Amino acid sequence: MSESRTDSPAPPPPSKTSLKPSLAVSLLSILAPILAVAILYRQEPFDPAPLPVHEQSGSVAAPRENGRMLRGAEMVGAGRMVGPEDVAYDSASEVIYVGCADGWVKRVKVGDSGSDSTVEDWVNTGGRPLGLALGRDGEVIVCDANKGLLNVSKHGTVELLTNEAEGLKFKLTDAAAVARDGTIYFTDASYKYTLEEVIWDLLEGRPHGRFLSYDPATKETKVLARDLYFPNGVALSPDQSFVIFCETVMRWCKRYYINGERTGHIDTFIDRLPGYPDNIRYDGEGHYWIALYTGNSMFNELLLKYPFIRKGAAILERFNRRPAMEKNSGVFQVDLEGKPVAHYYDPQLSFISSGNKIGEYLYCGSLHQPYILRLKLD
Ligand SMILES: *[C@@H]1O[C@H](CO)[C@@H](O)[C@H](O)[C@H]1NC(C)=O
Repeated sequence: MSESRTDSPAPPPPSKTSLKPSLAVSLLSILAPILAVAILYRQEPFDPAPLPVHEQSGSVAAPRENGRMLRGAEMVGAGRMVGPEDVAYDSASEVIYVGCADGWVKRVKVGDSGSDSTVEDWVNTGGRPLGLALGRDGEVIVCDANKGLLNVSKHGTVELLTNEAEGLKFKLTDAAAVARDGTIYFTDASYKYTLEEVIWDLLEGRPHGRFLSYDPATKETKVLARDLYFPNGVALSPDQSFVIFCETVMRWCKRYYINGERTGHIDTFIDRLPGYPDNIRYDGEGHYWIALYTGNSMFNELLLKYPFIRKGAAILERFNRRPAMEKNSGVFQVDLEGKPVAHYYDPQLSFISSGNKIGEYLYCGSLHQPYILRLKLD
C-alpha cells in the first residue's frame, strides 16, 4: 500500500509496531470468510426441508461381505458405452441391453473373457435411458429420464407410452418392471427436478416422486403412491403378489401389494440399507440385487438429518465446490423376505446403479462409468 503513495518515505524498519497491522490482517483473514459465508447463507434462497429420517440411523449388515469387489472384477465393453445405468438381460437371445448417457440403448454380447464382447448401437431415444425392462412381445420398456416411459419394439421403433399422470408431467422417469399380466410398474423420481438437477432434489429433501402403473390394454396411467423421496428401482416378486420400489433418500425399499387381500397396501421390504439404493432386480433364483450408488456414512446421515448442512452443501454446489462424497458403492443381495444375504462393494467405487446376476456373474451398471463391471460370484 505504501508504494502507491507518492510522498511515501522509505518503509519503516521492522519494529513492534508492525505487529499491529499483521494482527489486523490475520484477524481479517479469519473473519472475512466467516462473514462471507454468513452473508451467502442468509441470501441463499434455496430452502431445504427436514427429512423424516429419525428412525433411519445405522445400517443392516449382510452375513457375507466382499468389501474389495474391484479386485478380480472385469470391465465389459470398456470405452464403448457411457454411463450404462441399467443392465437388462434377454436369456433367449443372450443379449444384454444397457441404456447410456448419450441416448443409446446398446446391445451387448459378452464373449468368454468379457473383454472380447461386442457392443452394438441399437436405438437412440434422443433422451437419457435409465431403467430397462423386457416386455412380453420382445420389446424393451425404457424409462427415459427426459422423455418418459417408452416402448422400443423388437424392430427398434420407439413409442411414447406415457409422460404424465393426474396432470403432472414426469421429470425423471427412472425404473420399471413388467408384470405377467402386462401391467408396467414404474417410478418418476421427481416431478420437480431433471436428472441434471438431481443433486438439488436430494438436497431439498421434499418428496417429489411417484410410483405408478401403466396398463397397455387401456393405456391408462395410475398413481399408486405419491410424496416419495426419490423413488428409484422397481422389481416384481416372483409370485406376482407385490412390487418392490426403492426410495433412495430414505435408504429403504417398500413393497406395494398387487394381489390378495393386502392389494394396494404398502409396507417395508428392507430398511436401513448400508447405502443409497438405485435399481433392484430379481434373479429368478430367490434373490433380489439392490444397487447402492454410494455407501452410507456419518456425513451422509448428518447431511440428511440437518437441513442447514444441506443448505451449506447447496451453496458449495452453486460455486462448484461440493466435494465428491460417493464411495463404497456396490450391490446388496437379499432373499425373498428382504433378509440380507451378501454385500459387494469397494471404497473406490461410486455410482453403481444396477446389479444383475447373469449365470455365474454379477453385472453392474453405472450412471457414469464407461463400462459394465462384471464380478464372478463363487
Ligand atoms: C410395444 O410395441 C410393440 C410393437 O408395436 C407391441 O407389439 C407391444 O405390445 C408394445 N408393448 C407395449 C407395452 O405397449
